[in-house]
Parts: sequence; structure tokens; C-alpha cells
Amino acid sequence: MATSQDYRLGDFTFPRGWFMIATSAEVNTHKPLALRFFGRDFALYRGQETGRIVLLDAYCPHMKTHLAARNDTSYVIIDGGGTNVEGDSIRCPYHAWRFGPDGQCDDIPYHDGPIPKTACIKSWPVTESLGAIWIWHDPEGGEPQWDHPSLPQWHDPAWVQWQFDDLGTLEQHPQEVIDNICDYGHLGPIHGSTVERYENEFRGHVATQRQCGPHRTLVREDGGSPILHTDTSYHGPGVLISHLTGYYDSILMITHTPIEDGTIKVWHALLVKSPSDSDKVTVQDTIAARQFQHASLLAFMQDFEVWTNKAPCFNGMFIPSDGPFMKARLWYKQFYNPRERVQEFLDQCEGVYVPRGATAYSG
Ligand code: FES
Ligand SMILES: [Fe+2]
Repeated sequence: MATSQDYRLGDFTFPRGWFMIATSAEVNTHKPLALRFFGRDFALYRGQETGRIVLLDAYCPHMKTHLAARNDTSYVIIDGGGTNVEGDSIRCPYHAWRFGPDGQCDDIPYHDGPIPKTACIKSWPVTESLGAIWIWHDPEGGEPQWDHPSLPQWHDPAWVQWQFDDLGTLEQHPQEVIDNICDYGHLGPIHGSTVERYENEFRGHVATQRQCGPHRTLVREDGGSPILHTDTSYHGPGVLISHLTGYYDSILMITHTPIEDGTIKVWHALLVKSPSDSDKVTVQDTIAARQFQHASLLAFMQDFEVWTNKAPCFNGMFIPSDGPFMKARLWYKQFYNPRERVQEFLDQCEGVYVPRGATAYSG
């Protein structure tokens, strides 16, 4: 497993940014969810009182019981109707200490003295958006530097909301996935695109790729556009959003979140504008959108298949006709280093780049 250090990314093992940790559907249950990200274990649940999402470190401070691991035999769970979530709180299955959404212990059933202040678990700020749960991960413990992922189209009745494809664990450092944002040379061989215009741009926490051209699978000749336009950006290190104009207008999202140093969990989703162009989606629209999401997933799987088996690329043999890999890697480093050094990396990567022999997208 190649690590962040192996790629010489910077001081931090895990980057700063917004990361997806679960789908909303996964927490639409009364049971807590055991998660592992950033090399640590978490308990995630939806409070049954207010519906708020709570993310706590997984281990009870009393004797380190996992609060969300499977347990069918504790009377805490049995008496709780199959769950240890109580209102917006969670009760440990072992000795029944209860913790509020702020992580503070507020009840020890067999103890009538004051509850020690240190009977507390770390509670992490999380937010729900786009049918997903997001965490701001920050090795320096700072406030979010940019807004969590959101799209105005998500609440537009003319767009079919996505259901996530969970691609599971990829045994690859996220650097290998990030490289894709500037990988001009793979668009033909992997995706069947005939790229006519192409460019990358790096600005602040956003890395963008714009390209257009005919595509083997994602366009149609019968009335829709025969040309696929994609405008794709990483918003920070873990969230890619792509606006596609081809078969249907749609918005692709791919998220990846570190599990350990050198492995990630990956999701894919596609928001599709009503294929029948109605202002309120129909059942037929939803079926067409699901099929189009599947086609998009297959296109993504073409990348995924290569990533599954490749060796880590620490120093690629890049040529001038490749995309700006070294610029993208400098851009990515800003998230692995203290905020005070961000500008140093931006000074080395911000700008618009066109590979040798390609035509710039914006002309
Ligand atoms: S280990 Fe959690 S209450 Fe004892
Ligand atoms: Fe790709």
C-alpha cells in the first residue's frame, strides 16, 4: 500500500477537505452505522428525536466498547427494540452509559453521583446534502475553508435525483485517482472519446478539466447532441463534480474518502435532467435516468479497472503531450500541508494548461 509519504505529498497523512462518509439512505434506519475512515473508527446515526446526523468516535471511554458494531445480544439493544440509539443519544451496549450528540455522557444507570466531565467521546461536525453525509476533515482542526458540496439542481423537480453506486474499497492511494483530472491521453483509449478541445485549469481549491468531442457511448445522434461536453472539477481533494452535455444534460459526482493511508472508498452518482424535458420528472424519466447513470458508471469502471491493478506511480514518465500531471500534483499538495503554506503550492500550479498538440477548450 503506497502512502502519502511515498508520494511526498506533505506533512499530513490525510488531506484537508469535505469527504463523503455515507449515503443518506444508510442512516435512514434506527440502527447506528459503524464506519472506518482516516485510519479511525466512527459511529454514525440519525437522531430519532430531531433527525439530526451524529458522528462520534466509535469507542466508549469507559472500557472501549464499539458503539455501532453489530450487537444482537446486549439487553441495551434488545430492550431498545433492536437499537441502542435513544432519541438523539446513543447508549453503549456494555454497561449502558449514554452519550448525547455532543459526545458527553449524560446517563450512567447504576451510578447516582456526578458524571465525570471526561466521560466524553469526540463528536464530529457533519452535514447532509445531495443524499449523502459529509465530514469536514482537517488535520489542523480548523473551520471549513469552502462550502460543503451542494447543487441547485438537486431540489429542482425537473431533475431526477441520483441513487449512489457504492464502488467499495479501492486499494490505491487517492493520488492515482486525482491524476485522472488532467489525464488527456487516456480519454481515447479508455473512454472512447475523440477529444476535439481540451484544457485544465487550477484555481485555489478547485481543479478543472474542460473537454469536448464525440464519444462512443455517452452521446446520441437522434436529436440529442452528438458531441459530449464535459466540465469537470475537483472541489477540494475528495469530491469531483462534472457537468455533462451529451445524451442528456446531467451532473456526475464521484467521491472518494481515505480509509487507511493508501486505500479509499469510492461512490459514483449521476443527476439527470428530465430526459423527456418535462418540468416535473415522470416514472419514464426516472427509468431513463437510472439507465444513463448505469452507462456513466460503466465509463467510470473503465478507469476503475486500471486502478485496481496498477502499481503506484511516484514519478511518471510524462511527455509534453500528456496533461499537466505535475501541476495537478502540486495543486493536490495544498491539502496535505498546513494552511499557511497553501499559497506556496498555488503559486506553482495556478493557471490554464493545454497539452502539446491539443486545441484549448476556451480557444
Ligand atoms: S464500555 Fe461502554 S459503558 Fe462500559
Ligand atoms: Fe477517466
